[in-house]
Amino acid sequence: MENPLSRRRKILVLGANGRLASALARIWSRGHEVASLPRQKCDVSNPDTLRAALQSREFDVLVNGSGATNVDRCESERAEAGRINADAPAIMAECASARGARFIHFSTDYVFDGKTDAPLSESSPAHPCGWYGQTKLEGENRVLARDPRHLVFRVSWVFGPGKPSFIEWLVEKARKEPKVEAVADKFSSPTYTEDVAGWLEPFLEPDAPGGLFHACNSGSCSWRDYGAKALEFAAEAGVPLLATSVGSVTLADMKQFVAARPVHSVLDTAKLAATLGYAPRHWHEALREHIFHLYAPVPPAA
Ligand SMILES: NC(=O)c1ccc[n+]([C@@H]2O[C@H](COP(=O)([O-])OP(=O)(O)OC[C@H]3O[C@@H](n4cnc5c(N)ncnc54)[C@H](OP(=O)(O)O)[C@@H]3O)[C@@H](O)[C@H]2O)c1
Repeated sequence: MENPLSRRRKILVLGANGRLASALARIWSRGHEVASLPRQKCDVSNPDTLRAALQSREFDVLVNGSGATNVDRCESERAEAGRINADAPAIMAECASARGARFIHFSTDYVFDGKTDAPLSESSPAHPCGWYGQTKLEGENRVLARDPRHLVFRVSWVFGPGKPSFIEWLVEKARKEPKVEAVADKFSSPTYTEDVAGWLEPFLEPDAPGGLFHACNSGSCSWRDYGAKALEFAAEAGVPLLATSVGSVTLADMKQFVAARPVHSVLDTAKLAATLGYAPRHWHEALREHIFHLYAPVPPAA
């Protein structure tokens, strides 16, 4: 693929206050012209608002960072989840195609039922076990059916600067309480938003391939392992912790979970690695960098 910095692109980001979208907008604005539309300026669940917003703006690349991402709420608010996760991306894909732009959309490991423990590739059969995954799968299919140049990236366990995730929640809890626990029998691959921006930048070019890609950091872990590494790196960064290890609970113990969740949803990123010419770095390295940026004291100016 072409040198990612060779051409300045006009990028429009929807759902721009999200964890992933805000990182993409911030990082890509260094080399491209980026316009951001958060929910307050464009409610993607309203087809008229969405079409009007897209028809009145110029862009070469449309990026959808919006999503109904609360997996449990999706079970009770089914129509809303369908509008945001399936109908809205279909409209975005249509409007992007109409102006010859490419569309970048994000999906999830929750399109899989998680019943097999081998890493899942883009050709593995998708059978969601909940409404969130169901609506995300429908969104993927409608985007990819519209235009072969459009892109869908499946991510999992997203973390990064800005909006806190499981990692910040666990470290904050471990600062205040001597005992913390996390689910030890659910497995996936963490995804660092800062890395996603780098992997996807070559796909901003008009002649880059389209299609479905798995995009997460290398390696896999349970939620408990993920949390344990976060505490290890936080301690190394100098954070005073009352809890330094993470106890185990099971998915079945999580009575507050409404939606069924996939147990094994480790994403295989071989297709992305072959396209980029390098493999995503291991999640340990990415998580350590994130924790140090968050918590390590800034060295005094010389
Ligand atoms: N987070 C994860 O671990 C994870 C895992 C797998 C896949 N994904 C996928 O990755 C993508 C980005 O996720 P994320 O972690 O960045 O999620 P996020 O932080 O929850 O961001 C989603 C954004 O969508 C916005 N939004 C919700 N409803 C909207 C509406 N009707 N109109 C416009 N904007 C709306 C939200 O606005 P507000 O800021 O106003 O709430 C929020 O800023 C999503 O497609 C998600 O399905 C995420």
